[in-house]
Amino acid sequence: MTKPIAFIDLKAQGARVRDRIDARFKAVLDHGAYINGPEVAELEAALCAFTGASKSLAVANGTDALIIPMLAMDLKPGDAVFIPAFTYNATANAVLLAGATPVFVDVRGRDFNMDPEDLERRIEETGREGRLNPRLIIAVDLFGIPADYAAIFPIAEKHGLTVMADAAQSFGARWQGRWAGGIAPVTGTSFFPAKALGGYGDGGAIFFRDNDLFEVCEQIRWHGTDSARKESVRVGMNGRLDSLQCAVVLEKLAIFEDELRRRRAVAAIYNERLLPHADPQQFGDGGESGWGLYTLALDNRDAVQAALKSDGVPTAIYYPQPLHRMRAFQAYAPEGGLPEAERLSGRVLSLPMHPYLTDDQAHFVCDRFIAAVSSPPA
Ligand SMILES: Cc1ncc(COP(=O)(O)O)c(C=O)c1O
Repeated sequence: MTKPIAFIDLKAQGARVRDRIDARFKAVLDHGAYINGPEVAELEAALCAFTGASKSLAVANGTDALIIPMLAMDLKPGDAVFIPAFTYNATANAVLLAGATPVFVDVRGRDFNMDPEDLERRIEETGREGRLNPRLIIAVDLFGIPADYAAIFPIAEKHGLTVMADAAQSFGARWQGRWAGGIAPVTGTSFFPAKALGGYGDGGAIFFRDNDLFEVCEQIRWHGTDSARKESVRVGMNGRLDSLQCAVVLEKLAIFEDELRRRRAVAAIYNERLLPHADPQQFGDGGESGWGLYTLALDNRDAVQAALKSDGVPTAIYYPQPLHRMRAFQAYAPEGGLPEAERLSGRVLSLPMHPYLTDDQAHFVCDRFIAAVSSPPA
């Protein structure tokens, strides 16, 4: 291997878009509208055109992209929000910061996403107990793989609940021909630099299929003011995304589909070669990953990770602990635990995944992975 393998290669991508971003930055510095410049509306329109969402709002980060719609739903501490236990902590933080109560749901070993059977069981149990009022399901598209919307939407409808998608990791994923952002009534995503579509700092967006929430979210994003910005009509926050970040995301969006093709090619090599040796995260019928990360599950994970490290293959563990085991959220841990979320946290390993990996590098990762899983633990 001549070039070292990067887990995510923002430098290679940066070199590709540098001239266009320089020109964009110059334009922002020239017009001077650092907040709410023309790049904001331009990005929102481009995001709608890409995802098929009817409206979108650029916001300060992916956590705000979840909090703002929940504030718009006017959730109360007695309202239950059902979230998977195996996700990034921001999903649970957002629920609590929006003033509601998280109810953790177990995940499935096949797609690592929310288990619809466990979801229904917990909705019914919550209803029977009567302590909390079931309101919302947040379906997380973990590592880029769409949640099982075919099962989740009917459950939500049956129980009168809303579905919000946490697509922080899944920009570029598709489900039944719809892009992430155009699947659920409301969706939040993140433009954290390491995401498949990232900025050069924090950022995020909310996507709407259901326009009812749009106007209220727009007000909340701008300190709760009306469109004339004269009066506070509700309690809001500073949830805006600035013009410079919007300019970066616009230029990254312009190369996104080309990058996605490379991510898919790398994933195809990994899938074909590694399926016999581990349990890669899989998606169901009608789903397609955005390949934010490539993650598989295996029993001797820590030994394999150490062997790969010594072979120059960087890897990461997302996530070493399920949320209900973390101190901040233990108070919401269900009795009896969540067995699959607990099992996965001891087995998952994410391999290098980015559009600038060559086929040779992807094969090298596979060679070293297969050697590592095949050699007996020291
Ligand atoms: C599943 C999930 N939800 C929400 C977020 C929050 O995004 P941000 O870091 O932009 O606030 C992240 C970010 O990493 C995430 O992975």
